[in-house]
Amino acid sequence: MTPFERLEQELAGTPRTWLVTGVAGFIGSNLLEALLKLDQHVVGLDNFSTGHEANLREVQSLVTKAQWARFELIRGDIIDPETCLAACRGVDYVLHQAALGSVPRSIEDPLATHASNNTGFLNMLVAARDSRVKRFVYAASSSTYGDHPGLPKVEETIGRPLSPYAVTKYVNELYADVFARTYGTASVGLRYFNIFGPRQDPEGAYAAVIPKWIAACLNREPVHINGDGETSRDFCYVKNAVQANLLAATAELEESVSQVVNVAVGDRTSLNSLFGSIRESLSVRVKDLVLPEPVYRDFRAGDVRHSQADISKAERLLGYLPTHRIGQGLEEAMDWYVAALRPGKAL
Ligand SMILES: NC(=O)c1ccc[n+]([C@@H]2O[C@H](COP(=O)([O-])OP(=O)(O)OC[C@H]3O[C@@H](n4cnc5c(N)ncnc54)[C@H](O)[C@@H]3O)[C@@H](O)[C@H]2O)c1
Repeated sequence: MTPFERLEQELAGTPRTWLVTGVAGFIGSNLLEALLKLDQHVVGLDNFSTGHEANLREVQSLVTKAQWARFELIRGDIIDPETCLAACRGVDYVLHQAALGSVPRSIEDPLATHASNNTGFLNMLVAARDSRVKRFVYAASSSTYGDHPGLPKVEETIGRPLSPYAVTKYVNELYADVFARTYGTASVGLRYFNIFGPRQDPEGAYAAVIPKWIAACLNREPVHINGDGETSRDFCYVKNAVQANLLAATAELEESVSQVVNVAVGDRTSLNSLFGSIRESLSVRVKDLVLPEPVYRDFRAGDVRHSQADISKAERLLGYLPTHRIGQGLEEAMDWYVAALRPGKAL
């Protein structure tokens, strides 16, 4: 039995209360689904800036009535300290996901990114401290590796941030560390690499590459690849990220520690190879689909060239063992993508 299987068993017998911020978003709604299926109590907080009611409706359709009744939604903004405090009341663990993602968005509007990602983060950290939650787990980012060329990425060696978004995510880590040493607020930062899976938003200028490309293929629109397609990423299926969150919240760590770990698979896939896998997987599922050739365009400002994680720290510290490599994740999620992103069906 893996450490996560053991944890699932233990949780199923002892319900706890979890706060998931950003609960209507991609990763947040996947955390909600997993926790409700384990009969946990979940408080969710979201301002629906990039999250969707449809994500919550989908989770509702995947759990029992009794499980859904254990969910309480707070519509609110983490920029308001009182909202954060109210959300943390009576909570055992915080899984803080709410933030404005996307490098290009932060380059266009650094103030908005700063407000949610730093002011909002600090409000949540203060609320978690004052409510004496057992653990504050938060979404950090592989963008913190910045311009450091080393591969694979090891937690202790980072470069200079390449975007305002990357600055905000690094500042999160600095605050969490100072709060651990100053107030004893125990935290774990999860440096997510490119997470993908059901309910990731395909829409808009800031959409992530996998749902965006699949939606484009299904809707017979051009697929754009930034640069020459040899840019690589460590694509990580969302179930791995869920596993990391639950383990990080409950792992036996020393009192008052702050830890930051990579959450990825440890593989490296180029955009060209990713597009090849998507084409293949779509062609066996959707009859008569004419798949486009990709259109190459300029590299995007703020993007790193290659990314691949060393995941040994998460394995050692949390017992994290990814269950899905990229191919397994694409396979598992493809039916959802096809059903949700086919013409006229996008979120
Ligand atoms: N998806 C990835 O590959 C990835 C990679 C690295 C880090 N992250 C981080 O993981 C977290 C979740 O990302 P996601 O991909 O699920 O994004 P998402 O946009 O789907 O989810 C973010 C959620 O937070 C909510 N939110 C944003 N600002 C808020 C505010 N001020 N108050 C309340 N709610 C607010 C949004 O409405 C949305 O529901 C983010 O912190 C993101 O920076 C994601």
